[in-house]
Amino acid sequence: MPISIRPLHPVFAGEVSDIDCRKPLSPEEIDAVEAGMNEYAVLIFRDQNLTDEEQIAFTRHFGELENYNTPGHVRKREDQRLGPGIADFSNLDKHGNIMSDEDRVWFFKLGDRLWHSDSSFRPVPAKYSLLSARVLPSWGANTEFADMRAAYDALDNRTKAEIEDLVCEHSLIYSREAIGFTDLTAGEIAAFRPVRQRLVRTHPATGRKSLFLSSHAGAIVGWTIPEGRIFLRDLTEHATAPAFVYSHSWRLHDLVMWDNRATMHRARRFDRTEVRDVRRTTLAGETGTIEQAA
Ligand SMILES: [Fe+2]
Repeated sequence: MPISIRPLHPVFAGEVSDIDCRKPLSPEEIDAVEAGMNEYAVLIFRDQNLTDEEQIAFTRHFGELENYNTPGHVRKREDQRLGPGIADFSNLDKHGNIMSDEDRVWFFKLGDRLWHSDSSFRPVPAKYSLLSARVLPSWGANTEFADMRAAYDALDNRTKAEIEDLVCEHSLIYSREAIGFTDLTAGEIAAFRPVRQRLVRTHPATGRKSLFLSSHAGAIVGWTIPEGRIFLRDLTEHATAPAFVYSHSWRLHDLVMWDNRATMHRARRFDRTEVRDVRRTTLAGETGTIEQAA
């Protein structure tokens, strides 16, 4: 049975039906999902009660898992609740208790409430991220997505020409600094050394241009810091206007897949005394944005 996709927003995001993410996909289904991602950039799969192994297997239909041993890892392996290949985006510690509001891991998580693209602080940023809802709080906790292709298209020609060849520096240091979390260890500062990314990127499959913005971006190469920061803030404000934003209200066992090369996203507030257990698999990108085809 072919999959069908129902649009959820005027410019992007769709809900997929007629697919069971627990089962191996046929080549036709893989192609249909990829084509859906190229068009919608965010796809919602409802009622997918997945184990970690099933989520990893579904993810691997679309590429190679991002290597979580690269710098950027905040929690040491022995402090993690989940096995390899899947990242813990819950508010739980390794014993399954709600983490303290003074836990450094919680401070890092709060930074995810700023608009960002996953792994933009890595030399080769992520392709798709897949987030699975295992336990949800009673209130809040939406995830918002913004379409960076539509945001790029809507820029005036002067701005498009000005930004065409700009390069930004991305680091977890910048996004955590933005929420006042500056108490990083020497090891973290070394691991979070800024990487360079083009501000305008071209999607490898569709050829569409998009704004590669992220709260991890803290400088524009060749610009002063204040001039770069205020311009990035202006562009982010433009790119996250309601016309470009889909807000996902989670249901239990939703699986949401997004293309980090075409969208930004942010987590929204919830009652931190309630459990939110969401788990993410991430696909590695193919090249850095500096090396992308012109
Ligand atoms: Fe994220």
